[in-house]
Amino acid sequence: MQSKLIVAPKKFYITTPIYYISDKMHLGHSYTTIAADIFARYYRMIGSDVFYLTGTDEHGLKIQQSAESKGLTPKQLVDGLANDTKQLWKLLDISYDEFIRTTDKKHEELIKIIVQKMFDKGDIYLGEYEGWYCKGCESYFTEKEIENGKCPIGHEVFKEKEKAYFFKLSKYQEWLLQYIEEHPEFLQPQTRKNEMLSFIKNGLDDLCISREAVSWGVKLPFDDKYTVYVWVDALFNYLSGLDYFENKEKYSKYWPPDLQLMGKEIFRFHTIYWPIFLKSVDLEIPKIEFAHGWWTVEGQKMSKSFGNVIYPDVFIEEYDLDTYRYYLFREVSFGEDGSFSIKTVKERINNELVATLGNLFSRVLTLAQKREKTFTYFTDELSEKVEEKIAEIHKGYTQINLSKVISEIFEICFLANKYVQDNKPWELINTDPEKFDQVIYVLLETLRIVAVELSPIMTKKYKIMFDQLGLDLDDKNNYLLEFSNIMENKKVKKGEYLFVKKE
Ligand code: ME8
Ligand code: MG
Repeated sequence: MQSKLIVAPKKFYITTPIYYISDKMHLGHSYTTIAADIFARYYRMIGSDVFYLTGTDEHGLKIQQSAESKGLTPKQLVDGLANDTKQLWKLLDISYDEFIRTTDKKHEELIKIIVQKMFDKGDIYLGEYEGWYCKGCESYFTEKEIENGKCPIGHEVFKEKEKAYFFKLSKYQEWLLQYIEEHPEFLQPQTRKNEMLSFIKNGLDDLCISREAVSWGVKLPFDDKYTVYVWVDALFNYLSGLDYFENKEKYSKYWPPDLQLMGKEIFRFHTIYWPIFLKSVDLEIPKIEFAHGWWTVEGQKMSKSFGNVIYPDVFIEEYDLDTYRYYLFREVSFGEDGSFSIKTVKERINNELVATLGNLFSRVLTLAQKREKTFTYFTDELSEKVEEKIAEIHKGYTQINLSKVISEIFEICFLANKYVQDNKPWELINTDPEKFDQVIYVLLETLRIVAVELSPIMTKKYKIMFDQLGLDLDDKNNYLLEFSNIMENKKVKKGEYLFVKKE
């Protein structure tokens, strides 16, 4: 059933970066993955045909070396790690439609075809690479990365030259600038877009897209001495994940991506290389590239060497999944940097989840049960305000503003709490039972809407809310985002508290 308040896009293709697989996924990776999951669940719920893609980036020197040191083949290593990643996403209730791995055969084949296409077009040429080479790391470093003649880990580096293949980025510079100008929604948020624009205006150098020292990768189809640079390999996951060559129907249904989420540190690859590569092979450019901010832990960089890495599986064992999913998008405005701390987690639980949401819920159900009956449809000024909020929440999604989504949901709770205060149903039940019934109906339908709006975020708690409201989870009609008669004749039953205070 379609809500009269919102317009659902016909299809919605959303992606996360494909994460390097060498380390265990932490809070940062889960952040982007949960964000995409919230969008995917919301758009599915309102009726869009959604495709949600995530996956893993599995080629490169690091994997090659790590496998060697463990006495495994690279493939054995990445199979295990990809499995761990899938397990974690399952634990976090991630509803992806496809998990793409750069070692999937369909992906590797697609990369060869794409690179050949670029070559045939004349966008790739053989040139000479000159840079600072580190024997210890078997890789080149840029001038900026070198300090006192040493690589970032402190090995000595040498100026070296080798033959290599380059992609003509410079050829597309003007096209890209014009494209960005003509598509104001393409790069978001604005501050990051400005950074990209000044970077492009500074001039684009052609990009070295071949690697001689790396054997764990996709071979260049026209020169198998080399493997393809990992970023060319990685970016096209967004195409192979749709089975571009195997399933033209799927591709034509979903391409191009409607929203690609990532951290700010890889925005440049997605806003410069990616559209240019697509242009080179004549494919349509994605609608929105969005860079979110960077998480620290109590203001400090998250890193294994500081021992401060937050792992989602550890967190949710102590707290719970919904608290985690809620906290990440409540604490930090989407797009900005944020700092994780247990102190703020506890404040959010106690002041918001328990005091606002949980209290409202149990208060209304307690009142409703006093009449030992069901209620009939009624509307008033609260139902009008709730409908305004439904439209605002939808705007939050279209503006890629998950913080707005959450704060508008909480606004509904505040409005409902005030409505209880103002109407004093505990008095009405004796003085005006008919009015009491009307007030309770409006509150119950408001709670239903709160549960529905929370469902993309709190994938477990909304089920408890549905249960206590007497709503069947499998009945699609119950998810209508409109003030309606759904709560008519529903038998509510107060049960466990939704959240408990943390000391
Ligand atoms: O860059 N705060 O993979 P990656 C917020 N394979 N987000 C964070 C984060 C943090 N502290 N740490 C990680 C790669 N992320 C490439 C991507 S895509 C074609 C190839 C998230 O394992 C955020 O989304 O380094 C960031 O962009 C991504 O993990 C980087 O993952
Ligand atoms: Mg990284």
